[in-house]
Amino acid sequence: MDKEEQRPQTSPHVLIFPLPAQGHVNSMLKLAELLALAGLNLTFLNSDFVHEQLLRHTDVVSRFLKYAGFEFRTIPDGLPDEHPRAGHAFMEIFETLESITKPIFKEMLVNMKPRVDCLLADGVLGIAVDVAEELGIPIVQFRTISACSTWAYFAVPDMIQAGELPIKGKEDMDRLITSVPGMETFLRCRDLPGFCRVMDSTLQRISEDTRKNFKGHGLLLNTFEDLEGDILSHMRTKSPNIYTVGPLHLHLRTRLCDSNQTLFDQYSSSFYEVDRSCLSWLDKQPKGSVVYVSFGSLTVLSSEQVFEFWFGLVNSGKRFLWVLRPGIMPDEGKNIPVELMEGSKKRGCIVSWAPQEEVLGHGAIGGFLTHSGWNSTLESVVEGVPMICWPYFADQQINSRFVSQVWGLGLDMKDLCDRHIVEKMVNDLMVERREEFLKSATKMAKLAKECVNVGGSSYCNLDRLVEDIRSMNF
Ligand code: UDX
Repeated sequence: MDKEEQRPQTSPHVLIFPLPAQGHVNSMLKLAELLALAGLNLTFLNSDFVHEQLLRHTDVVSRFLKYAGFEFRTIPDGLPDEHPRAGHAFMEIFETLESITKPIFKEMLVNMKPRVDCLLADGVLGIAVDVAEELGIPIVQFRTISACSTWAYFAVPDMIQAGELPIKGKEDMDRLITSVPGMETFLRCRDLPGFCRVMDSTLQRISEDTRKNFKGHGLLLNTFEDLEGDILSHMRTKSPNIYTVGPLHLHLRTRLCDSNQTLFDQYSSSFYEVDRSCLSWLDKQPKGSVVYVSFGSLTVLSSEQVFEFWFGLVNSGKRFLWVLRPGIMPDEGKNIPVELMEGSKKRGCIVSWAPQEEVLGHGAIGGFLTHSGWNSTLESVVEGVPMICWPYFADQQINSRFVSQVWGLGLDMKDLCDRHIVEKMVNDLMVERREEFLKSATKMAKLAKECVNVGGSSYCNLDRLVEDIRSMNF
């Protein structure tokens, strides 16, 4: 029997379309599996590039094909094969998605069998909204970032109208922004995404796409009410149909476990080869003694920046596990100072890609030096691990402000990259202010678990989403 015949005949057909980037694909796959468990017919649309990485490094594709009614399709992202798809150059993908991918996507939707009843598209894919509108297909948008970042993006036109944007240079960075409801007392210019600093076409596109998020049939967020309830109540004045279903990775784990699924095992959707040797290294370290350091899948660093972090970590005297992803340092960091090599041998472990969810859940981890990507932030929240934030771009600047100022879950290093500051922050997190951060982190981790349990807010919102898709009740 081919996949078409296996599809549950009475279930609607949902097409899921993520932005082709690690952080987005990870959370969309978790969502897809939750919907597959609920018995929906699903097609997951990957870019050719992403699909190839998944096939090469994971067993995700065969895992998902075990669900009747689940299918992967692929589409070009329009970038040449050799494009780095990282750092600020990643933003070029939005041009090729518009010029190359969009017409192919439209034709694909027109011809797809069975007919697509509902599109569940990444909220940064304005092209999906345009095509859905043109073809009259109901669309639910999934914004994979935090509610607080989505809300600040939404407010960009208001900030411009209030004369709070553009930012007027480096000396303007500590000015308070007062036109984002719910953030009036703590949001500074330096907490806004990098593209607010330059006011170019990226800012305009992101702001326009975010406005579109509030106009679809519903807006889905990978967050939970106890974490972002205040901001969500402001957002609901503009879009009443918001589904908070996160933290998705924990939600999926919980539902698989509840349904006694044999598929309840750790699996990777990484675009890189996962080095699991760091788990045995962690097994040998004392409880809560290791700082985990990772800057996600898109951050690019100069060798000077890498050396500043490295010196800071070595000089702190703390143990560390560091992910130095292939391509993270395009200038390759030749001539690594000898004291760094020696310091790492004594107390460090460096890998090119880690099983991050498992690492953060390991008892030896005591803190996370992160770029504040939203998945990393949620993974840390779930495991009750305090954070030092060094945001790189986009939503990360706002996330890091909330981690430090609103949730009290850690420290925000912001624009600084200096070995002395790294050393001090590591010591503050792991020693001086440890109890304070651990207390908040443990409390938030408990709330995260409650919201994905039966009757919790995310649990109920997912059921509501499935029901609304089944009845097309938007
Ligand atoms: C991007 C954006 O940069 C981020 O700000 C946005 O919120 C989502 O999309 P990325 O930069 O990769 O994602 O960060 P993040 O959201 O943290 O996602 C990284 C994912 O890769 C996480 O799920 C993390 O568990 C995983 N990862 C990272 C690994 O599995 N192993 C690693 O070694 C590093």
